[in-house]
Amino acid sequence: MGEKMKNKKLETLMLWAKCKSDPAYFIANYLETFDKTKQTYVKFEPFPKQLEAIQSFKDHRYNIVLKYRQAGISTLTAAYITWLVTFAHADNPEKVLILANKRETAMEFLNKAKVFHSQLPKWVSVDIGDTNSKQHVRFTNGCEIKAVATSADALRGYTPSLLILDEAAFIEGGQDVWAACQASLSTGGDAILVSTPNGYDPIYHTTYDGAKKSENDFKIVEMRWYEDPRFNKDLKWEKEGEETIPDESQDFGKYANYIRDGFNPTAPWYLEMIRQMNGNMRLVNQEINCDFLGSGETVIDKEWIQQQEKENKRDPIRKEGYQRELWIWKDPEPGKKYVMGVDVSTGQSDDFSAFSIICLDSDEGEEQVAEYYGKMPPDELANYVWQVGNRYNAYVVIDITGGVGLPTSLKLKEMGYSQLHYPNGDKNKNPGFNIDSNRRIVVSELEESIRTNRVKIRSERTIAEMTTFVFRNGRPDHMVGYHDDLLWGLAMALYVSNTTFKEIERNKNHSAAMIDSWMTTQNENPQINSIKPPQEKEAMKQSFNNPNPNTPQRNIPDPMSPFGPMNQPAGHMYREYGWLFGGMMGRRRN
Ligand SMILES: Nc1ncnc2c1ncn2[C@@H]1O[C@H](COP(=O)(O)OP(=O)(O)OP(=O)(O)O)[C@@H](O)[C@H]1O
Ligand SMILES: [Mg+2]
Repeated sequence: MGEKMKNKKLETLMLWAKCKSDPAYFIANYLETFDKTKQTYVKFEPFPKQLEAIQSFKDHRYNIVLKYRQAGISTLTAAYITWLVTFAHADNPEKVLILANKRETAMEFLNKAKVFHSQLPKWVSVDIGDTNSKQHVRFTNGCEIKAVATSADALRGYTPSLLILDEAAFIEGGQDVWAACQASLSTGGDAILVSTPNGYDPIYHTTYDGAKKSENDFKIVEMRWYEDPRFNKDLKWEKEGEETIPDESQDFGKYANYIRDGFNPTAPWYLEMIRQMNGNMRLVNQEINCDFLGSGETVIDKEWIQQQEKENKRDPIRKEGYQRELWIWKDPEPGKKYVMGVDVSTGQSDDFSAFSIICLDSDEGEEQVAEYYGKMPPDELANYVWQVGNRYNAYVVIDITGGVGLPTSLKLKEMGYSQLHYPNGDKNKNPGFNIDSNRRIVVSELEESIRTNRVKIRSERTIAEMTTFVFRNGRPDHMVGYHDDLLWGLAMALYVSNTTFKEIERNKNHSAAMIDSWMTTQNENPQINSIKPPQEKEAMKQSFNNPNPNTPQRNIPDPMSPFGPMNQPAGHMYREYGWLFGGMMGRRRN
């Protein structure tokens, strides 16, 4: 071999070794990405935050990336797996599985990796072996990349060495999929979860939250728009009552300090995004600010949930029961009125029974004084409601939707519980309340009571349920994988006390006897009459009753070219505006 050739070979070998040990070097020197603004392929030079992500992928087995829209993360991760399969050892081939909320998203991901592969220099001797599948690629060194839409079945018969979940917060039926993922990871695979937030979804948020609390081994990579050199031109930091600070130093340490001190970043790009999202801050919070609580379409606004959390939440004075599932904040006081709302479980394994007791005339107005959350067969629950209900002399309202609560309700009647709620006060009917046919109005009452801070919620369990209580296809419901039993008990108690009793007061002849028996003493409660619904109430109820599924389509702006004409690929259309009312099930991602 001639000297020249020998040197060439050595050079190639050194390059190969350099690329194998340094994915960032490899990506920046050999890969190209399509620049939409220039309509051409450009060198893919990862910006600092992307470099941090690559390093984290390399150093940590489990990664979770929090990202704004168009952070470049799908592209970056595709580049990373290209590096991974290119430099894998044939004795230990990589098997990458890409799962996404949609098949097209997964395939687009795989396609990016294929395009990157086609850009590799000649001296890389790894080729694609079998190209006839759009979803599954095998390389000549034994590596594989498979891309599928998420389902628990997706993992059957394929044990990945790296699992990638793209748009992880938008995966439907999340918990089953996640259980299957965890089972497959337990055999030794690595994982990368990527998403923009979608409220408190069961996979992505749960994992992120666990990582924050060091309850799992996931490493968090947080991408922020103001750290992206494409978007942070003319960056400024604002805080009310303080002078605005222009700072585009790219010093992320300083940026973190501004955030810590309560400053908010702004830039022409950001303002343009807000404008293009019609000032819909919920959308901006989700898509751009990566805010979990502000992103999901919670029925009760984040602000009011936080108000309950900060101002009203208390530790119980006592926890009773075998598993301490009955929490007490106040013992009964003579002369006070109490209403108890009961949500009976269907008896299925993951279903809980719940009740909440509200004092209507405490020193602070309406106040939660006790709450039960546990597993109990319906007849046993009747005994328990009888016992606790009598202790507070509470007016008891039981959800009998679909007949589930009926055995409990009928047993209480049989036992002679004197203060049971009947539909329209008609004792010829079965005692109880049908939530399903009153769903929206009951939720409206709940929302109003919380928004106006009229009710003081004490329980952290109830407040937690509010954060996962969303609109699903226009219907107030719990997110998949979460519960809302405590909220329904509470909502019923509030609704009945603020509506039925006003009715009762108006119709004294009909109900005098009932009111008498309901009072622990004969003190009239002025509060019942003094509750006046605020003006928005009717509008609110209207909107709950008539979520408009036919609201016109609207475009989501392209963060890459917010100033240009909205020449949008299908990938940037929200086909349905309906998801705004639909929580995670109604939302369609591209
Ligand atoms: N470092 C970079 N330099 C130039 N362009 C980049 C860079 N990183 C990503 N891009 C471009 O940004 C665009 C968005 O990338 P990508 O689709 O990977 O982002 P994403 O975070 O997955 O977005 P989405 O929120 O749509 O899933 C692509 O056109 C990509 O080529
Ligand atoms: Mg993406």
